[in-house]
Amino acid sequence: MEKQLIRGARVIDPSQQIDGIRDVLIENGCIGAIAESLSEDCPVFDGKGFILSPGLVDIHVHLRDPGFPEKEDILTGCAAAAAGGFTSIACMANTKPVCDTPEVLSYILEKAKKASCRVYPMASVSKGMQGELLNDFRALKKAGAAALSDDGKPVPNSLLYQALTAAKQENLMLSYHAEDLSLTGRGIIHKGKVSEQLGVPGVDRASEDVSTAQVLALAMDANAPVHLCHVSTKGALSLIREAKARNIPVTCETAPHYFSLNHEALLERNANFRMAPPLREESDCRAVLEAIADGTIDCIATDHAPHTEAEKAVFETAPNGIVGLETSLALCLTYLVRPGIISIARLIKMMSTTPARLLGIPGGTLAQGSPADFILFDPGQHWIIDKRKFHSKGRNTPFDQMEVVGRVKYTFLDGKIVYQDKEGEHCGKTN
Ligand code: DOR
Ligand code: ZN
Ligand code: ZN
Repeated sequence: MEKQLIRGARVIDPSQQIDGIRDVLIENGCIGAIAESLSEDCPVFDGKGFILSPGLVDIHVHLRDPGFPEKEDILTGCAAAAAGGFTSIACMANTKPVCDTPEVLSYILEKAKKASCRVYPMASVSKGMQGELLNDFRALKKAGAAALSDDGKPVPNSLLYQALTAAKQENLMLSYHAEDLSLTGRGIIHKGKVSEQLGVPGVDRASEDVSTAQVLALAMDANAPVHLCHVSTKGALSLIREAKARNIPVTCETAPHYFSLNHEALLERNANFRMAPPLREESDCRAVLEAIADGTIDCIATDHAPHTEAEKAVFETAPNGIVGLETSLALCLTYLVRPGIISIARLIKMMSTTPARLLGIPGGTLAQGSPADFILFDPGQHWIIDKRKFHSKGRNTPFDQMEVVGRVKYTFLDGKIVYQDKEGEHCGKTN
């Protein structure tokens, strides 16, 4: 039996209410035991000074493979995931071809076998993401689809109603990008002072709010769960809060950029600050923080959306999307945990335990017998985000050169190190 002991880390596992200094025994790639003190005749790894938590789980990633290898591929995306502390990711279906056939699913699953992170492909809701015909969810689940989404492309209401019902039957999460395209129009950033100042078309909050209200009504009527992705407006958040109070089966995610940046960052006309939905106003950021604190927001995802530097060169015509896998944990520690909005344990729950549960996958726990997918991170290490050091092919981050606190040191998958921080570059401060 292959054994390893990780000694003396602060172990945080929200799934078992563990938060304290513990020893963790790894046996044959699985969690063997967790206790205050273990002695085993096996190699010992010093975890002192680090937090050890279940590996992070991201339910919203664009891996761009098949179809856009210039932006990202499965191996580079997974290398970025491992560097960011993720051990499981769900990838969106807007590839080329769209992921809605057993062939594309098996292409992804096959390639992911060599990757440094587990990959759970999502299939599209509608055929070719065209919003016309429903895919056969049962067949797609059988072929390996872990969830469903037409992310980026809203599904017409009548089809969405059917989709919610069918997804419930198959017990598959349906992740919905709530946007009314007739309200988005030609808008490229949030509609407000900044869009006016820049003289570019804006996207009103109503685009997200109206679509959110509609999908909540459908979920209520169909009595079928819906997961809302990347919630960004105060209006959508109050609708979701109210829906939850009325027992409508809804869950939702936000992404770090919606609480760490607002639309004023767009004044420099840098397309690396453009994504859909767009950065909103300070009042929306505050609403996102409140909704994280009160549990309205269930989890944090990245919406990792790599694009090439050439595509991002022209502000007005660049595609929407930013990378996020390699900055997410640090941004959450910096903007959520440091100011005391949530505890580290709550953050781990939102970035690991809950997303694993929503996808219905292993992970998100250090329970005995589960795969030894975990991370060691230094919550006090200050460092400067440097896009040139990303493992992702994407350099389209709005956070380049920003100082953050909290750094992933090791990522373990099946008990083996798949990422190790070799740079360790920081500002010399650690507290
Ligand atoms: O900003 C975004 N980028 N939002 C989406 O919904 C799609 C994504 C992409 O695929 O680039
Ligand atoms: Zn989206
Ligand atoms: Zn997306």
